[in-house]
Amino acid sequence: MHEEILEQFLSRVVEAIGQNTFVRMTLSKPRSKRDELRNVYVKPVLIKGNRLYAFTYRYERRDEVKNYDAGQLSDVLKEMLPSRFLNAVLFTVTEDLTLLITSKGKATLQSKKVQENREQNLEHDKQKNRLINPANPWWYQLGLTTREGKVTADMQHKFKQICKYVEIVESLLKPMRFEGKVNIADMGAGKGYLTFALHELLTQRMNMEVDIKGVEIRPDLVQKINEIIRSSQLVGLEFVEGAINTFRPENLDVLIALHACNTATDDAIASGIKAGTQLILCAPCCHKQIRQEMERSGKVSPITQYGIFLERQAVMITDTIRALIMEYHGYKTQIMEFVEMEHTPKNILLVGRRVEKPIDRAAIASKISSLKQEYGIEQLYLETALGVAF
Ligand SMILES: C[S@@+](CC[C@H](N)C(=O)[O-])C[C@H]1O[C@@H](n2cnc3c(N)ncnc32)[C@H](O)[C@@H]1O
Repeated sequence: MHEEILEQFLSRVVEAIGQNTFVRMTLSKPRSKRDELRNVYVKPVLIKGNRLYAFTYRYERRDEVKNYDAGQLSDVLKEMLPSRFLNAVLFTVTEDLTLLITSKGKATLQSKKVQENREQNLEHDKQKNRLINPANPWWYQLGLTTREGKVTADMQHKFKQICKYVEIVESLLKPMRFEGKVNIADMGAGKGYLTFALHELLTQRMNMEVDIKGVEIRPDLVQKINEIIRSSQLVGLEFVEGAINTFRPENLDVLIALHACNTATDDAIASGIKAGTQLILCAPCCHKQIRQEMERSGKVSPITQYGIFLERQAVMITDTIRALIMEYHGYKTQIMEFVEMEHTPKNILLVGRRVEKPIDRAAIASKISSLKQEYGIEQLYLETALGVAF
């Protein structure tokens, strides 16, 4: 029933390829609702001077791309039409040719001329001017991309976060001057996405010589990430197993701590301050210590009687006191909005840049102590970690 129409459709595809008028093609309407493959998109691409046809297989939660030459294309289509897809549209320079097959096997072919001739686009993957290149092999190994370097559907959100992060870091580092190799510690580095992104930004975009240590408490993660670093032959990046509060860097220019839980952020800030780093960058996460202290103090205000607001208040107070303690130690601080991570809705970035100018320590100390008094806080963990008390 449908064979003849299908043959006509395929011969028009071959014709479009031969006449160089093939713009793109879409396969849709999976025959089975249970099929995870939802669509296939085909477009011509030029790879090393050869014209190939890139098939993007769109599954529910990921994309896969395979390239075929013109000779293979018909066979690949025959495997899918109509056994997996019931509809196909061929877009040529001058027309849209639609193949519709019903589940009962009845087929029709409809042609519609386009108003204005289309152009072919032979770009492989649109080269966006990104600071991070997902085609770098470590991104596949870290699970962000397909083997072909395409960010998977699952990881699109993560990739956006990574890009936003490197944009912020680039803007912070650009005006800074470092002599020679830049020593960086990324405390609580986790699966390493942001640490690799930082390494890529600094070495490939900013041409800096770096020594980046990702400090992580989970040994399995450290081992896995170090294997990826080795196989990608990356220089100046290493994961170190250990707790943030026991990591003692000799020289440290930049301290990073992104989403290090609760007081692990304080440990990180303390080690940055002690090492006299030029830049401290942290995205604090779960402010339990101060929330508990505020609850214990019994100082309930009309605002903090509500659990959500108590939580938010604890975030603001903790990070304000952290910023003030950094100022006390000679840092100019800034609180910026960051991107939310999947494991926390917190999106605050606390930035401290060391400045060489006189500080009114007494005034800062008095601000800290009155804040503590007002909210019934005995001691912020950062004070303990630094051995100070306000
Ligand atoms: C929420 S993840 C954040 C990972 C990464 N920085 C990011 O933002 O995507 C926190 C990581 O810090 C690690 N971590 C927590 N406390 C730590 C500590 N005291 N010392 C070292 N690593 C710690 C955890 O094992 C986890 O991998």
